This record gives sequence, C-alpha cells and structure tokens, in this order.
Amino acid sequence: MTSISFKVSASVPKSTSDSISVYGVGLDGKDLKLQGSGAKLAGLKSLNLKALSVSGAFEATSRLSVGSTVVGLIGLGGGVTTHAKAREVGGAIGRAFNDVKSLTIDIPIASSEIALALLEGIAIVQYEYNLYKSGEKKSSALKTVNLVTSKTVTKADLTRVAVLSQALNQTRDLVNAPGNDLYPAKMAEIVKSQSKIPGVTIEIWDEKKLAKEKCTGILSVGQGSVRGPRLVKITYAPVKAKAHLALVGKGITFDTGGISLKPPLGILGMKYDMAGAATIAQATFAIAKLGLPIKVTAFLCIAENMPSGSATRPTDVITFRNGKTVEIINTDAEGRLVMADGLILASELKPDLLIDIATLTGGARVALGNRYTGLMGEDNAVAAIEKAASAAGELVWHMPLAEELFDLLKSDIADFVNSRLGNPAGSMLVGGLFLREFVGLASPKSKERLNWAHLDFATAANNDLAPYGYAVKGATGSMVRTLVTVAEQMAAKQKK
Ligand code: BES
Ligand code: ZN
Ligand code: ZN
Repeated sequence: MTSISFKVSASVPKSTSDSISVYGVGLDGKDLKLQGSGAKLAGLKSLNLKALSVSGAFEATSRLSVGSTVVGLIGLGGGVTTHAKAREVGGAIGRAFNDVKSLTIDIPIASSEIALALLEGIAIVQYEYNLYKSGEKKSSALKTVNLVTSKTVTKADLTRVAVLSQALNQTRDLVNAPGNDLYPAKMAEIVKSQSKIPGVTIEIWDEKKLAKEKCTGILSVGQGSVRGPRLVKITYAPVKAKAHLALVGKGITFDTGGISLKPPLGILGMKYDMAGAATIAQATFAIAKLGLPIKVTAFLCIAENMPSGSATRPTDVITFRNGKTVEIINTDAEGRLVMADGLILASELKPDLLIDIATLTGGARVALGNRYTGLMGEDNAVAAIEKAASAAGELVWHMPLAEELFDLLKSDIADFVNSRLGNPAGSMLVGGLFLREFVGLASPKSKERLNWAHLDFATAANNDLAPYGYAVKGATGSMVRTLVTVAEQMAAKQKK
C-alpha cells in the first residue's frame, strides 16, 4: 500500500510520460462542457467529444489520446456542489487513473472543503486486499497527485487525510481477513502491535481475566470455539483531555450462529462480523495520531461463535456483570451478548459520550439497504453522530427505539430473552433495545441513562456488490471517519 503525496497549487504542472491530467466534463443542457483551468490548452477543444463517446454523467471516466499525451476526463454532471460529491468524484478518479505514477487533477474546485474531500476520496479508494492472491497482484501505481486549485489546503489537512486513509486501510485489512487466520487472540495481537502511539495504552483480557471480571456474554459466545475469546481495552489519555468518549465494538471473528447454526448462504460474509471492533480500534488510533485532546476508551469484544460440545445451548441462562439475567434462546443473536459486557464496562467509567458499533442484525439490510448505518439512542448522542457523519459524508439514519417491541423479549425464567424467534418485526430496533438495557446511569442517583448511541452497520461495513464512489469491494472502513469526526467535534466544544 503506497501512501500518496498530495500537492495543491494553482499552477498547472507540466505533463510527463508517466502522468495523466484529468479535466472535468460537465453537462450544459445536452451539451458537454470542458472544465478546468488548463483544459483549453490540452488540445481538447478541437475534439468532438460526443463522437468519442465521452460522457459528462457524474463519475463517468474516459481517456483520450491527444497528440502524444493521454488525457483523462471525469464526468461532473451538474457540478461538484458538496463535499460528499467531491469524495465520490475523488473515488472515481482514483479508481480509473491509478495505473500511472502521477496524476494532475484540473477541475473546478469551489472551496477548501471540497478540495480536501476530493483528496480524501482518492486516498481511500487506492485500497486493495490481495494478501491471498498468489498470482499477479494488481495494485495502485499512484505516487503523486497534483490538485490544481487556488483554494487553501494546509499541511495539517493533508496529515489528516493520511491518518484517516491509514486507519481505513488497517480496518479493511482486519475486516477482510478470513476467519481461519483471524481469530480472537490473533486480532488482539494485531491491534496491540499497532498501538505504539503516544498516549495509548492497551490491555488484553484472556478467558481467565474475563471470568474474573464476570464478562459472561463474551465467555458464553466464545465457549464453543477452541480459539478462546478476548476483550481488548484501548485507552488514549492525553494530559489535556477533559471530555471522555467511550467506544464499544462487536468483534465476532466468525459467526456461524453457534448451535442455532446459520444456513450455508447466510453464513457467507460472517468473517466481517468483527468490523465494529476493528472500526473502534482504528478510530481510536487515528484520534491519538491526530493528537486530539479527548480521552478515549475503546472496548473490543472479541469471540468466535462456533457450534460444538462446549457451545452455549439455546435456552441457557447467563448472569451479566451488572446482575441482569438473559435466556439465550438463539445463539445466533450473539453480538448483543458480547456487546452487553462492553457496554457495562464502558458505563462504569461514566463517559461523556458512549457509542457502540456492531454488525448486529440482518434487519439493518431489510430496513436500510446496503449503504446506510442504523443509528439509535439518546437524542444528544444521536445528534452528535448525525452531525459528524454529515461532515464525514457517511450515511447514517436515525431509527426509533420502539418501546413496545421490548415487551416481546419477556422470558419465562430470566429477565429477558436475547431474541424473538419467529417474529422478525423491527429486528434492528430490538437489537438496540436489548443493548440499551446494559447502558448505565449518568450518576448513581440519576434516573437518566448515559449519553449513548448504537450504530448497526451490518451491511454498510461490507460492500459485496460492485465498487462505487470511493467504496471498494469487501470491507468498506465505514464509520471510522465519522467516529474520528465525533472526537474532533468534542475537542472543539471542549475548547470553547
Ligand atoms: N452477525 C449477524 C448479523 C448480520 C447479518 C451481519 C447479515 C451482517 C450481515 C448477527 O449475529 C445475527 O445473526 N443476527 C441475527 C439476529 C436475530 C437472531 C435476532 C439476525 O440478524 O438474523
Ligand atoms: Zn449471529
Ligand atoms: Zn453476529
């Protein structure tokens, strides 16, 4: 994986044999309109673009041979009017023209924010997971990107792009890793090896420590596997921090469903079931690398959900660290069990904001399709995440914690059951309601819950369809940037 060197300047650099200049093609009614300060000079004016099948549709790319040089064109449709669109365009350019070492992008850039988002899109889309390819490995040749604009992009802005794209790469490497090679202890070890960052400390809890700490959810899910569960606690505590952000992530390195075994088709994709844990680890590392003055504590709840003679039986009852009891009627609703432990531990620290993230329910796809992350929780926390996601250009959708559904989790012998067999109504919401039971109170006297939100990115964590915008196939790295942005906004607020 190469990291790209970005150069931002108003002057158009000279083209060389291993570089391509990319200009914009907008739509002016039905007519194509060339855009970019050097477009006129590039010899494009005399060409009949329509006859050459050039498209001005948003994100459409084409290449033309002009004299002895190759010129790239990017369709801009009605224009790059938002930072979200700029990221998509960056993704399209970065995907179509990454076979050359150097790229010059000369399209209209309306603001610094748009310039940055474009560069972010280019950086993110360069990712490829080819660890297990024995033959020829296709990878990006891109080393330098020159962005032609008079808008200001600072060195700190470019550092942020580099830190975020590294965080996304590390997330995607973990999430794409197959279950035979990524098991709980291994995942913990990899995360530990990445944690040598100023202000960051890390603890790995094995089965013995998990038992001592009464982390029964993680132990119960992990007990069917010969590869035991782990909890990883990452703390980033800079001296100047006042606000405290706690993160909890689902880390099922493979989810077979356990004794409530998944069908053959449904089991595919279950290596991605640790995406929540990977996401919070890398978001925490990115926050630390950026030196944000925020305390972050991340709890990675890691286990492998396997059926075996030692696995949890449907209708087993477990007692959690906070005293609540759960009858596990479906061992495939395991995410909420490991997350419950993480939420209890995180709540004990009384953070200012508590966010959990999990590939929790297939219901997320039913309700929201492939790209949106479901967001539930307390109003304040929801608002903070919506604001951050919007700034990061990530798709979240606020869903209700529909109270009436919780009654359906009644158990005959325990406090509640972990799923409603045979009743799929609002499955994602029921997941949220279950988790809410394990969120602590703001203070011992207060009846108010901590400021908490739950993100269900069961489908947004992984793109099993065609690449789009800056999303590649497989793990998306979705929500890492939103979580980092949440921390940035907490830091900005704390300053005031
Ligand atoms: N890991 C799955 C959820 C999932 C499904 C993630 C599809 C990604 C794609 C989770 O553990 C699960 O199996 N959930 C059950 C919950 C149900 C039993 C309440 C589900 O969604 O069917
Ligand atoms: Zn499951
Ligand atoms: Zn799962």
